[in-house]
Amino acid sequence: MQPDLNIHRARRVHLLQTLGEGVLILATAPEAIRNRDAHYPYRFDSHFYYLTAFPEPEAVLVLIAGGKARSRQILFCREKNQEREIWDGFRHGPKAAKEIFGFDAAYPYSEIDKRLPRLLENQPRVAYAFGADPAWDNRVMGWINTVRGKVRAGAVAPANLTDAHALIDAMRLAKDAHEVDLMQRAADLSAEAHRSVLRLCRPGMGEWEIEAELLRSLRAGGCEAPAYTAIVAGGKNACVLHYVGNGQPLRDGDLLLIDAAGEYHGYAADISRTFPVNGRFSAAQKDVYEIVLAAQYAAIEAVRPGNPFITPHEAALRVLTQGLIDLKLLSGEVDGLIESEAYKPFFMHKTSHWLGLDVHDVGDYKIKGVWRDLQPGMVMTVEPGLYLRPADNVPETLWNIGIRIEDDVVVTETGCRVLSAAAPKMVHEIEEVMRDS
Ligand code: GLY
Ligand code: MN
Ligand code: MN
Repeated sequence: MQPDLNIHRARRVHLLQTLGEGVLILATAPEAIRNRDAHYPYRFDSHFYYLTAFPEPEAVLVLIAGGKARSRQILFCREKNQEREIWDGFRHGPKAAKEIFGFDAAYPYSEIDKRLPRLLENQPRVAYAFGADPAWDNRVMGWINTVRGKVRAGAVAPANLTDAHALIDAMRLAKDAHEVDLMQRAADLSAEAHRSVLRLCRPGMGEWEIEAELLRSLRAGGCEAPAYTAIVAGGKNACVLHYVGNGQPLRDGDLLLIDAAGEYHGYAADISRTFPVNGRFSAAQKDVYEIVLAAQYAAIEAVRPGNPFITPHEAALRVLTQGLIDLKLLSGEVDGLIESEAYKPFFMHKTSHWLGLDVHDVGDYKIKGVWRDLQPGMVMTVEPGLYLRPADNVPETLWNIGIRIEDDVVVTETGCRVLSAAAPKMVHEIEEVMRDS
């Protein structure tokens, strides 16, 4: 699937209308050094990519608002450079970038300090991501001060600052059909990676071998990269929420919690599954697993337009808390135990977050202190869990059981659709896939 450049241009037109007046400046991400002169693989800035589909570093989008007749879309990008292209690879250069990506003008990145002050002259407002990067704060203020320095020549500097990220966050929250297609693909490829390790896993393997197979499957399927560092957590490691060591052997009788997914055309999936290393749930593991699964179904059922964002979390909490009572880990009434947050030692994170170009995607969760209502096109995770560390009030049969089940769902007109449904999660499905491979 190629990026649909008309869609990206239409987003810029929409943003220009929202801005109304002034100049918006948005830079892509810098390249990141891993150590000495070795780089991390390059990943563009999500806001920048959403508006441009332009994949190269050292690029800046400048939008000048002022009605249809006077608005302009400008890109600054790296020039063609035969020497650098021999070493590092292809660059579009301004001329081709303007044509291919549909800008009104494109200039060399090296000219930005010369050109930007002129573009800011006599503009009432500048919108940029202030506070996100001190170097950019300095740079934009430098350009504004250059304009101020020309006051006796009649130039007026922008007097108002607007947060560019806030404007774009609002646009990114509900996904269009094109984005949902890309997210479905990211979820399908990620679900296949989960199926692949279900078929592979055996006692005695290492967490690292499972991680290697996840990465192989994601890349072979067409994902550009993992959407985040994979969590491959056997046994007690599953009770460490951000475990990424992935370096321990997998033991017969233990569970394996995997939180891993790929990125496709910039869009993330985010999937967690938990299954027995030896292919058969023990009675105790199954008891806990079925509680988490029931909590997840209840939460998914609560994902529907008009429900506040927090409703799925509340639905999951009720089932988890009743489950903790049934397991004799808590005693009392569900309402009171939720009120006092008695479940927190066993479930300490929220059930959902937005998902999109970023795995923890942008967008406010509350408006003026009130949970936002769900709307069609919003994409979120549903990921309840239970984490039972050794403790005096936990029977030894339950020690080190850590379970999270995480799916990605898009809100539809009538409810929701589970994008990651192809990753098995029912006990009998998991056991069948593991037995038959
Ligand atoms: N994989 C990150 C998360 O589940 O939020
Ligand atoms: Mn998540
Ligand atoms: Mn996750």
